[in-house]
Amino acid sequence: MSVILGIETSCDDTAAAVVDEAYVVRSSVIESSLDQHVVFGGVVPELAGRAHLVTLPRVVERALEQAGLDPRRPAIDGVAVTSGPGLVGSLLVGLSAAKAYAASWDVPLVGVNHLEGHLFAPLLEAPDLRWPLLTLLVSGGHSMLVLHESPGRHRVLGETIDDAAGEAYDKVARWLGLGYPGGPVIDRLAKEGDAAALTLPKSMTGPGLDFSFSGLKTAVVRSAEKHPNATTADVAASFQAAVVEQLTRKVAVALRDHEVAGIALGGGVAANSALRASLNDLAAREGLDCHLPSLTMCTDNAAMIAAAGLAQLRDDGPSLLSLSARPSWPLEELE
Ligand code: KG4
Ligand code: ZN
Repeated sequence: MSVILGIETSCDDTAAAVVDEAYVVRSSVIESSLDQHVVFGGVVPELAGRAHLVTLPRVVERALEQAGLDPRRPAIDGVAVTSGPGLVGSLLVGLSAAKAYAASWDVPLVGVNHLEGHLFAPLLEAPDLRWPLLTLLVSGGHSMLVLHESPGRHRVLGETIDDAAGEAYDKVARWLGLGYPGGPVIDRLAKEGDAAALTLPKSMTGPGLDFSFSGLKTAVVRSAEKHPNATTADVAASFQAAVVEQLTRKVAVALRDHEVAGIALGGGVAANSALRASLNDLAAREGLDCHLPSLTMCTDNAAMIAAAGLAQLRDDGPSLLSLSARPSWPLEELE
C-alpha cells in the first residue's frame, strides 16, 4: 500500500504527516509560529519563513517516527508538498526540504495546491464518504463554494469578491480591540450577545454564488455607532449572525442546482460554532450527509496535503524537481 509524507508550510503552521492510500492518517504533526505574530496583529512573512526553517526538520522527523518509520530512510512512496498558494518565503522552505527528501530517498515528489488540500480533509475522517460533496471553504485568505465530485475532481461555484470570511472576523475583532486572530474570540463572545442588537443589511441576496464581506465590516461600525448601548458581545453576535446567514444561504442556493450526497466544511472559519450548527441544520433539513471535520483537520495541516498528493500522484504522476513556488494559484486552474 502506498504511503506518502506530506509537508505544509504555506503560512504560519509547520506541518508534516504520513498518510496511506486508504486515506488513513498514520501521523500528523503541527507546530505553529502564531505566538510570534500575535503582537503584530497578523502573520509576519519573514518571521513565518524563519520559523519554518528552524522547525520543519524536527516536525518531519516526528511525523515519520510516529508513523513507525525510520526517519533516515523511511519506507515511503512519495513526498507531497504545498507549492502554493501562500507566503512565498514559507512555501520555499517546504519545497526545498521536500525536494531534498525526495531526492535523497529516491521517491517521487508531488506539488499540491493548498486549497485542494483543504478539500481532502473530510475524506480523512470519513474515507467511505458518499460523493459528490458541496464544500464550503472559508479561511483567513479564501472563501469559496466548491463542487467536489470525487477525490481531485472539483469545480469552483462561487467565491468572495472582496474579503475572505476569516479576514472579516479579523478586521472586526481589530476594530473591537479584541486582538488577532479574531475568529475564536468573536465566536466565544457572540454566545453571550444579542444578535438582533445591530441592524445589518443582507448582502449578496441574488441567485449568484459569490460572497462579499467587506461591506459588512463597514455596516457593523456604522450600526454600532448608532446603537451606543450595544455591548461588544452584542456587536460580535450581530456580526457573526450576518456572516453565518450569508454563508448558509449561499450553500442553500447552490443545493438547488447541484445534486450532492453531502455538505462539507473546511478552512479556519470552519471552527466557528454557529456556522457548524447552521450547516448541520441545513444538511438535516435537506436529508444530506454533513461533514464537519475536527478543528485540527479544518485548519492547516499536512495530512490533507498528503491525501491530495496521493490522488494527484495516482491520476497525473509526479512533479518535476524543478517545481517552483506559486504564491498565487487559483483552484480554478486545476479544473
Ligand atoms: O485556515 P486558517 O487557519 O489559515 C488561513 O487563513 O489559511 O484560518 C485562519 C482564519 C482566521 O481569520 C481566524 O480568525 C479564523 O480562521 N477563525 C475563525 C474561528 N477560528 C479561526 N473564524 C470564526 N470563528 C472561529 N471559531
Ligand atoms: Zn489553509
